[in-house]
Amino acid sequence: MEIVRTLEELRAAKKNMKGTIGLAPTMGFLHAGHISLVKRARQECDHVVVSIFVNPTQFAPNEDFAAYPRDLERDAALLKEAGTDLIFAPMDEVMYPQGYQTYVTVEEVTKVLEGAMRPTHFRGVTTVVAKLFNAVQPDKAFFGQKDAQQVAVLSRMVKDLNYNLEMVVCPIVRDRDGLALSSRNTYLDETQRKAALVLSRSLRKARSIFDSGERSSKAIRAAMEDVFAAEPAAKVQYVSIADTETLLEIDHIKSQALVSMAVYIGKTRLIDNTVLGKPDESLD
Ligand code: PAF
Repeated sequence: MEIVRTLEELRAAKKNMKGTIGLAPTMGFLHAGHISLVKRARQECDHVVVSIFVNPTQFAPNEDFAAYPRDLERDAALLKEAGTDLIFAPMDEVMYPQGYQTYVTVEEVTKVLEGAMRPTHFRGVTTVVAKLFNAVQPDKAFFGQKDAQQVAVLSRMVKDLNYNLEMVVCPIVRDRDGLALSSRNTYLDETQRKAALVLSRSLRKARSIFDSGERSSKAIRAAMEDVFAAEPAAKVQYVSIADTETLLEIDHIKSQALVSMAVYIGKTRLIDNTVLGKPDESLD
């Protein structure tokens, strides 16, 4: 496994790659969720490239860019073990050279949910991912369903900008107790970690009443609010029941709906989701 930090090194390494390339873009501090993307890429592609870059443009000034956990050595060991061929860990000036002023913006689907709460976030994500796609030119790109809106936004970008690649969306990976894996879980102390289980509990509740026939978003939301009310440490920012593609809110669920949420546990903001009307083994 090779680690490259510049575009020149990346291009040189790519010259030796014959066959298909799978890319898993990450911000590092990897957990089993990221490793599941790498393993899937390993199964589906001849070469596996993982990018590690804590992307400053997707953090607002009041967010945790400086505190975001970083450990390239640990990440490299995990990635080697998982069968990665190449790590692209660009330096800041490679991704954002001095005088940088070019951004990729996806319109409607970035205005709701996470985009409504974090107005500059997706412009940063789409810009950096477009640059990674341009640099690596993967045949397939692997992302986690945990960031459901990110997947919807990037899928839109891939279609709209005619990227010649397939988006592969991998299931959410949870700890045994149901907490969705996230690099930000490291911010939680033991009590907060227990409180954080309210997210997956509320999703299970939503699935169970949907499975028994409930189709009204209002009723499903009310049942989820009862679950949150029993956990005083949780401060709900939003709970959404939305169309899986446009992410616009729906009142009545016909076939499928994305149930997603952002919840503060102390100062840590957690997100989670499930798609009703579709199997979700992570919550069984
Ligand atoms: O999901 C992430 O870790 C990031 O948003 C991504 C896709 C690597 C872009 O910085």
